[in-house]
Amino acid sequence: MVLGADGAGVVQRAGEGARRFSRGDELFGQLLIAPLGSAGTCAEYVAVTEEALLARVPDGLDPVVAAALPTAGGAGLALVASLEPLAGKTVLIVGAGGGVGSFATQFAVNAGARVIANVRAAAAGRMRGYGAAKTVDHTEVSLPDALRQAHLDGIDVLIDLVSDAAGFAALVRPGGTAVTTKYVADPGALATAGVTGTNFNFAEHVAGELLEQVADALVGGRVVAPLITRITLEQVPAALKPLAFGVLVAEIQADGAEPVSCRRRSGRGRREPRAGRPRPPCRSGRRRSVHPDRR
Ligand SMILES: NC(=O)c1ccc[n+]([C@@H]2O[C@H](COP(=O)([O-])OP(=O)(O)OC[C@H]3O[C@@H](n4cnc5c(N)ncnc54)[C@H](OP(=O)(O)O)[C@@H]3O)[C@@H](O)[C@H]2O)c1
Repeated sequence: MVLGADGAGVVQRAGEGARRFSRGDELFGQLLIAPLGSAGTCAEYVAVTEEALLARVPDGLDPVVAAALPTAGGAGLALVASLEPLAGKTVLIVGAGGGVGSFATQFAVNAGARVIANVRAAAAGRMRGYGAAKTVDHTEVSLPDALRQAHLDGIDVLIDLVSDAAGFAALVRPGGTAVTTKYVADPGALATAGVTGTNFNFAEHVAGELLEQVADALVGGRVVAPLITRITLEQVPAALKPLAFGVLVAEIQADGAEPVSCRRRSGRGRREPRAGRPRPPCRSGRRRSVHPDRR
């Protein structure tokens, strides 16, 4: 079994009749190759068909960042695009500090929304750097209490990356919209409360063009990648514990080639670096972050 769905790398060989890509092309994408686990991106090489969900790494984009962005960035952008227009609306993002939430926050801010980011206090500064107007730490205050005080009528739009069905969308005003990535929305029940509820399925949105849009936004400086921890292929098994936050990228060196593979993940238990605080050492001994506070 080979894990890993998102990745970036360099074409080593093109099959007979291949038209779309050539040897030497630098690509990134999301490779969900059936049967799942048979051919993941945590590997020196992966064989794909021409129809695979791949896009070219644009000039100016670090391939490691490209490897980290397909699911997190693509889902973040697709979520926001599915909710437009957002200009002037108040958008609550629950679980905003993770991979999807970090991108969704920035794309929603860019779309003119007033974003309230639900994150732990340690991530508050980073979210404000993304343009969030307000942050709420659910471990310090009750999220419903904090929001009801400021938004008596409810919020306009909810992007919920965390909650189970209980209480989902309770903070959304009649006429508002609630989307979940956890498939807990009951659109019929929500409709009786006047709320448009949606279960977001990335598979319905993902496309090469979407990945290119995220990459362009990164290259153009309109968004920044969330925190990235770089490890080696040998460190992947140990890293598959719920320890890291943000995005984890394994840089994999094949013989004489330079493919890069990644698995993105996040979780609990690690302290989020703050601007001004020394960054924790990367387990590989090499440490690079793409967050602007730490460039
Ligand atoms: N439906 C789809 O097509 C689709 C697509 C992409 C992702 N997803 C799903 O969407 C979710 C988010 O994805 P992701 O990649 O962003 O995950 P992630 O990187 O693990 O981020 C999740 C974030 O939620 C935070 N969190 C956890 N419990 C929380 C709580 N009770 N209240 C507030 N925040 C909490 C975590 O912070 P702490 O670590 O500090 O707790 C973390 O920052 C995952 O469940 C993923 O499987 C679904």
